[in-house]
Amino acid sequence: MCGIVAVIGSREAAPLLLEGLRQLEYRGYDSAGLATVRVLEDSGEAVLSCKRAKGKLKNLSELVDTHGSFGHLGIGHTRWATHGKPEECNAHPHRDSSGKIAVVQNGIIENHRSLRESLELEGIHFSSETDTEVIPHLISRELLRLEISGCKPGSSTLLKAVQNVSQQLKGAYAIAVIWELAPDALVVARKQAPLVIGFGEGEFLCASDTPALVGFTRTILPMEDGEVALLTPLGIELYDERGYRQQRSPSLLSGAEHVVDKRHFRHFMLKEIHEQPETAELWVARHLPEGLPAESPVALPFDESFYAGVEQIQILACGTSRHAAMVGAYLLEQFAGIPTSVFYASEFRYSAPPLAPNTLTIGVTQSGETADTLAALAMEANRREAHGDPAFASRQLGVTNRPESSLSRQVSNILDIGAGIEVGVAATKTFLGQLLAFYGLALAFAARRNSRSSSEILKLLKELRSVPNHLRILVQKHDQLSEALAHRFADTQDVIFLGRGINYPIALEGALKLKEISYIHAEGYPAGEMKHGPIALIDSRVPVISIAMPGVVFEKVLSNAQEAKARDAQLIGVAPEGLETEIFDALMPLPEVSEWISPLLSVVPMQLLSYHIAAHRGLDIDQPRNLAKSVTVE
Ligand code: M6R
Repeated sequence: MCGIVAVIGSREAAPLLLEGLRQLEYRGYDSAGLATVRVLEDSGEAVLSCKRAKGKLKNLSELVDTHGSFGHLGIGHTRWATHGKPEECNAHPHRDSSGKIAVVQNGIIENHRSLRESLELEGIHFSSETDTEVIPHLISRELLRLEISGCKPGSSTLLKAVQNVSQQLKGAYAIAVIWELAPDALVVARKQAPLVIGFGEGEFLCASDTPALVGFTRTILPMEDGEVALLTPLGIELYDERGYRQQRSPSLLSGAEHVVDKRHFRHFMLKEIHEQPETAELWVARHLPEGLPAESPVALPFDESFYAGVEQIQILACGTSRHAAMVGAYLLEQFAGIPTSVFYASEFRYSAPPLAPNTLTIGVTQSGETADTLAALAMEANRREAHGDPAFASRQLGVTNRPESSLSRQVSNILDIGAGIEVGVAATKTFLGQLLAFYGLALAFAARRNSRSSSEILKLLKELRSVPNHLRILVQKHDQLSEALAHRFADTQDVIFLGRGINYPIALEGALKLKEISYIHAEGYPAGEMKHGPIALIDSRVPVISIAMPGVVFEKVLSNAQEAKARDAQLIGVAPEGLETEIFDALMPLPEVSEWISPLLSVVPMQLLSYHIAAHRGLDIDQPRNLAKSVTVE
């Protein structure tokens, strides 16, 4: 996790670094820091200075006088703590013992312990508990070695030192390095953690993600795994892992989708919930145009070989993406008739099931950077490659909101959900986008396999086209209803969410949303499972939120809700008005739609209720404690 930003050019670095970090704060907010190199006008001497602060970026901003002169070269960091508590001493940048080299890092240096031990044996004193601190010390040692062998201080020596040190580091990381004795050099390196170079006017930048760059340039060059780059005021030199110079053209970021703006909303999360009708509308326009042939009713970016011969599907994902995958699995099995399993990506990597032939593996990750998901996909591709039999060959699809992410460099088929940048740590509109992607896949497979009649396919298409309008009404209505209901949860400690069938994953998602942003303990259960244990938790202090949508399990869910009510639970229904819903103490009404599309609507009250409960409690909704938007560590 963590976000890094760096700049070299002709303007003051500090304000640019702070603005870049502001756009990256979603990646972590345990501490922030920056280091700059300034060349003194009178003496021509260069001075490296460093400021760090525990907590959110505003604490660092208060320390940095942006009217002062910090120099034109700098690196910045916003941290999500992995090694070492969120204290100032563990905040980046980290420096070597001379204080002349500064490094920021995103990722994990897996062999940091052994490196640290060997440096300590050489008499190096460490001032933090982080894995990162080994890097400036190693670079310092390497610079000394290069100096002894005749290299002069300067940009190419710093580049060489970072290239050599990169060979000693194990793990997944992205780093940016500056050195007081090379005031015209910024060296950056990437290994399995994102890093994008930006070409500004009279300056070059580098950052973990594009939102940090778009305020300054739209011309970007994503770095590839293992690459090291030297950025100077005059240009960029890019090298691969073996030290060979690389030539690649930059690309242009298009559209407004990389601009991060809260508009008139109090929080990004609320804005993103309200953007869902638009997310659905765009998706319908792109993928469900009228007039497509019956055998290919969805416009997806794949040729026929993608669909051919798929006998089973396995889906790897984490968190909210996993919940979307569970709805996806329901659709792929029940609508398209393909046996489908969903795995926690973090578990799959170390306990994958035995290989089955003709399997499509789908990785779902809105950020495209989740280390667990990327590692699980890579492991699966490797073991299939090693197998040799063509029936076991790797066939992978990535479902993501960030088609420019690491996922896209790893997986050949990408389905872009196109929801636009999501800043709130709690995923909302990207969950909806992931669900829609699975509806598209299920329809595309069902049509090709004849697992559903054409009228069933046409019916689902028609219902999906109505989703943006339903959402438009729902979001407005439930914003008010949830706000009114939220006060009931002021002192609540536990909440149970019940759902069944296609809405069971929505119960899980409702519980996750509530936990993440309100810090209230919540559990999602398949409604029929409650009587096998969790019912013991229920008393009059425990609200039970029950998703009851007409369909194969409607009556069953209502009976399960009754069981909770009989134990004095406060029963809140997410259900259509009028249909035996008088059993609920409070109703969050939904339109009476088919069970198939119901998750696309039933999730909205879950999101808004969690939001308003957290707002009622005065919590930091967009940056909940201990979390970060993209989890780039295992
Ligand atoms: O970027 P990803 O979709 O791979 O992220 C996976 C999870 O970390 C993410 O869904 C997390 O659970 C969110 N905070 C949920 O709101």
